[in-house]
Amino acid sequence: MHDDLKLGDYLKTRRSVPPAMMCAPGPERAEIESILALATRVPDHGKLAPWRFVVFSRTARERISDQLVEFIRTDRPDATDELLTMERNRLLMAPVVIAVISTAAPHAKIPVWEQELSAGAVCLNMLMAANAHGYAANWLTQWFAYDERARHLFGLQPGEKIAGFIHIGTMETHPGERARPDVADIVEWVNA
Ligand SMILES: Cc1cc2nc3c(=O)[nH]c(=O)nc-3n(C[C@H](O)[C@H](O)[C@H](O)COP(=O)(O)O)c2cc1C
Repeated sequence: MHDDLKLGDYLKTRRSVPPAMMCAPGPERAEIESILALATRVPDHGKLAPWRFVVFSRTARERISDQLVEFIRTDRPDATDELLTMERNRLLMAPVVIAVISTAAPHAKIPVWEQELSAGAVCLNMLMAANAHGYAANWLTQWFAYDERARHLFGLQPGEKIAGFIHIGTMETHPGERARPDVADIVEWVNA
């Protein structure tokens, strides 16, 4: 995102970039800290901050990916080398991958749903914060976000959930436009 881009123009063209269309460089630690600080500026009913981040180094992602591949081998003994390679690469294509973890828990006043929505807001804000730093980004979950066996690999505590993995890097290829809903089809105007 260029500094002179107006917010409305940015939103009109905002687009995620698949990790396969990213290359190095990704943000360095100081930039990641800045991106995370911006990402936390989201609506958060009750100021609970019901989310946290895990920034995985490439080495950590290689270790995790090796384990994920073992899960697939167990589930699908017939898995081809091509499939295993594709699966092993899922967390390795973008230079930076950050897990947004929802820590939502029952609360006297704030519904869990609202806390989880706030985690989603953090994910979108992180995409935009990465764009503001000049990087491409994508919010992905993939199967392993929901696989019980993978929970410990991502450091999930009981009750926590992956809201998303935010992949960040430099755009190598523009993904093109994506079809968007026609607002007229999804809006209802109630006048009286
Ligand atoms: C919670 C969540 C999880 C997602 N997980 C995946 C995923 O695992 N794989 C995928 O191809 N897209 C996934 N997407 C879709 C992409 O993030 C994104 O919507 C798509 O690339 C287009 O993004 P854009 O509208 O920002 O350009 C997910 C979206 C959300 C909101």
